[in-house]
Amino acid sequence: MNRLTIDADQGTTRIDKTIYGHFAEHLGRCIYEGLWVGDNAAIPHTRGLRDDVVEALRQLQVPVLRWPGGCFADEYHWQDGIGSPASRPTMINTHWGGVTENNHFGTHEFLDLCDLLGAEPYICGNLGSGTVREMQQWVEYITFDGVSPMANLRRANGREEPWRLPYFGVGNENWGCGGTMRPEYYADLYRRYQTYVRSLGGNNVFKIACGPNRDDYQWTEVLMREAARWMDGLSLHYYTVPGASWHDKGSATEFDEEEWFTTLQKSLFMDELVRTHATIMDRYDPGKRVALIVDEWGTWYDVEPGTDPGFLYQQNTLRDALVAGISLNIFNQHADRVRMANIAQTVNVLQALILTDGPRMITTPTYHVFDMYKAHQDATLLPCRVTCDSYALGDRRMDGLSVSASRDAEGLIHLTLCNLHPREGAEVTCELRGVAVDEVAGSVLTADSMNAHNTFADPHRVAPTDFGETRLHGQQVNATLPPMSVVALTIHIA
Ligand code: AHR
Repeated sequence: MNRLTIDADQGTTRIDKTIYGHFAEHLGRCIYEGLWVGDNAAIPHTRGLRDDVVEALRQLQVPVLRWPGGCFADEYHWQDGIGSPASRPTMINTHWGGVTENNHFGTHEFLDLCDLLGAEPYICGNLGSGTVREMQQWVEYITFDGVSPMANLRRANGREEPWRLPYFGVGNENWGCGGTMRPEYYADLYRRYQTYVRSLGGNNVFKIACGPNRDDYQWTEVLMREAARWMDGLSLHYYTVPGASWHDKGSATEFDEEEWFTTLQKSLFMDELVRTHATIMDRYDPGKRVALIVDEWGTWYDVEPGTDPGFLYQQNTLRDALVAGISLNIFNQHADRVRMANIAQTVNVLQALILTDGPRMITTPTYHVFDMYKAHQDATLLPCRVTCDSYALGDRRMDGLSVSASRDAEGLIHLTLCNLHPREGAEVTCELRGVAVDEVAGSVLTADSMNAHNTFADPHRVAPTDFGETRLHGQQVNATLPPMSVVALTIHIA
């Protein structure tokens, strides 16, 4: 039996729109080709930023974009990416394929992209190999409206007005690619570096400390104990890797039901991670002032055959749509502590929303889930109790449904549901307490096989369609979810 009970007239927690955030790194074809084609490209663009991708992303109402990495961030020296492109020095992108980075996409180009998208910028600074001064000057360059060396340099580079910089990360994965540090050492460095990340003029910087890798609870413990009072957010990174090891992560498109099950089960682990890290944070910050920022999440498979292993290019199937739907439901449910999340990554890398091939562009099943879920942005989370059937495979089992619900500013109720079972539909009875239901509309994302995906030859194989499988009975909405589906319902109240 699948039964939801939603207290539709209650709820106090806002689902921060930035839970629907993105991440774009200088990695493979994410920035170059995916977002930036340069001023002289034949591909239609606005100041070098490709129009088709920008338009597709605008449709999603991307709230926030994290840049420039990732591991790249702790080797990036921002001053190499300003001024005339021809005079910008090159560097080696050591983490991602050892390719030469020409720095043609830098601070101005990133902030221009954010302006075009209507997204807030989230810049990750270099603590691993950069200086305190460098970090301090980057913030000054971007945000200071008075007369100063950095503000004057910005003006000399063509930008009179400062930009708003709402979010700043003080290093990335400093337990690994960002310097291989112990939490005690990083906590001290965080305290030092963040001192110079200043809120200048009218710009208020929300400072994000590097948080744990998946279930490294000790990292969270130490950071909260030693540095919580100087941070606004603590990051968490967790990737869904179905294979047994990093050397055998599994194929993005060739998998059986065992791997389907494993992938979804591993994506559900996000719930345990968020709960446990949040419990530690509660001890030091019972008022929940410090946000948990899941600024890297998504699936990570073996790269597509024939592509550069350092470019992390993978296809995206209906399975990824389920991972996205499950993860976003989890973030919504924990919106009291999770106040930003950034899928890795926006274009052509890992669980991408968009894939490009020269001038061609397609959207992935994951893209469609973000489109279907965007109504949750800034809505009020509704208390929802779920009783559901299990999805069992052999002697393994997990909940067959993933759900979250919200009420937006217009009073519409949004319910997103995932049926994890790839062979059986799910009859769902949903009771909405405290309101009278007038009308229900919805959309569904599903396909005829677990590994269905969009290609440049068949770009709309997996796309949402209208969902007609709902019935109204007083306060109750009944729905029949197809196997392996993501459904978004909009419920109008009388
Ligand atoms: O998203 C790819 C990489 O994964 C990022 O650069 C790094 O932060 C993480 O390990």
